[in-house]
Amino acid sequence: MNTPQAGILLPLPPLARYLCFALQPAASAGDALRALAEAADGQATVVGIGRALVSALGGEIAGLRGFPVFAGRGLELPATPAALWVWLRGDDRGELVHRARRIEEMLAPALLLTDTHDAFVHAGGRDLSGYEDGTENPSGDDAVSTAIVGNERYPELAGSSFVAVQRWRHDFARFDSLAADEQDLAIGRRRLDNEEIDDAPPSAHVKRTAQESFTPEAFVLRRSMPWAEGRRAGLMFVAFAASFDPFEAQLRRMLGVDDGIVDALFTFTRPESGAYFWCPRITGGRLDLSLLGL
Ligand code: HEM
Repeated sequence: MNTPQAGILLPLPPLARYLCFALQPAASAGDALRALAEAADGQATVVGIGRALVSALGGEIAGLRGFPVFAGRGLELPATPAALWVWLRGDDRGELVHRARRIEEMLAPALLLTDTHDAFVHAGGRDLSGYEDGTENPSGDDAVSTAIVGNERYPELAGSSFVAVQRWRHDFARFDSLAADEQDLAIGRRRLDNEEIDDAPPSAHVKRTAQESFTPEAFVLRRSMPWAEGRRAGLMFVAFAASFDPFEAQLRRMLGVDDGIVDALFTFTRPESGAYFWCPRITGGRLDLSLLGL
């Protein structure tokens, strides 16, 4: 059975904690990853493996590549690769803290925790700007075929997924300085009733990213959550797909690579990170790391 990590397809949990790890020089990460494979069920704990960790173990995953340097007029987005990404899903912040601690201990000294961010569902699934997020996500079988690698091209990868992760930080003062209708036109939907604004300008976020408007169509399964640390806050953008191609097509369009029109989102928010990971399938109740020789 090619079972995906269940947390990818489930609705968002009330709370989450994201962890990123770096591979330590000359470390042997096999044992650490083997322990994680036993501990991570793919549902409460979703795991993504970065290119450096795959290559350190002598593996090769077709379709896993480095996060490109994305640039557009006046913009160059950060690429911040990590060896390992863990998405802890839960409903008790203390439990998440302790689960994170156990995973950190389990992976040391081969993998060093470099980044921790706490996230949450806001107002039933809204970004901190107040706009509903995820409306146009594929659902049911479409969600599965969008997010999970099928049997056709790479049977050995069937059931796994690829995830693009970007931590966006909002500039709330800038956002608040926009009039309500300017904010609506930046998104391309009305905050009040989530209706799409047909005559929004081409810079509107949903005009830029309309998934059917790409050739080929560019569908992703977004599982983003608001994050906050002290006074800093924004959206942890998380998009699962069977390849990175749809995400890259969308982000290039947001940057106006072909037509010079930059997504109006950039007026009030910017990504602080950007990384790609491969999310292995579950076999026999544990993460299937056989492609990495584990
Ligand atoms: C701070 C960053 C972002 C915010 C606040 C944001 C917010 C939103 C909102 C409010 C919607 C409309 C409702 C919905 O369909 O979900 C939307 C749609 C969408 N966004 Fe974003 N987004 C962000 C970043 C991104 C990025 C980086 C991408 C991809 C590279 C992206 C791809 C999409 C797609 C594909 C849609 C659906 C478009 C459609 O088919 O109608 N978003 N986003």
